[in-house]
Amino acid sequence: MTEPRVAIYPGSFDPLTLGHEDIARRSLKFVDRLIIAVAHHPTQSKDRLFTVDERVEMIEECFADEPRIEGAEFSGLLVHFCVKVGARIVVRGLRAVSDFEYEFQMAQMNRELLPDLEMVFMTPAGEYTFLSASLVREVAALGGDVSQFVSALVLRRLEERI
Ligand code: PNS
Repeated sequence: MTEPRVAIYPGSFDPLTLGHEDIARRSLKFVDRLIIAVAHHPTQSKDRLFTVDERVEMIEECFADEPRIEGAEFSGLLVHFCVKVGARIVVRGLRAVSDFEYEFQMAQMNRELLPDLEMVFMTPAGEYTFLSASLVREVAALGGDVSQFVSALVLRRLEERI
């Protein structure tokens, strides 16, 4: 029997947007199990809207219908987390050319640290190419309607928080 293909989709997910959800669900075409892993960024914790625990909870709730996708948190290096959970694939979304340089640098560094790791970059559906969690936070904080950018579950949490 072949080993199940486990992938990590790492990020901040503050909050999870429909763009993230789109990438996660599409990745199931080539992975058997996807772990959406929320990174602890100790230096940025004061700029965050939701705690890491809350973000993982939202991920679990949004993918309650999909047993192949789960939420997790990690601190420290992504490559160490990959080794810990037995993942050899990392999924990241690429929205525009502006994302490329940062993603390319991270991919090269991760490969230096763990040569066995493959980074897979996916583009979201066209309607989400401009979408980012930071823009959703800003628009929501200033009273704008973000209902077309996040799931109903996340929207409710945003309304409670802001
Ligand atoms: O959504 P983000 O904030 O762009 O995600 C960045 C993330 C979490 C993928 C990146 O910062 C990361 O991998 N952090 C874990 C620490 C680490 O491994 N750093 C070295 C990256 S080459």
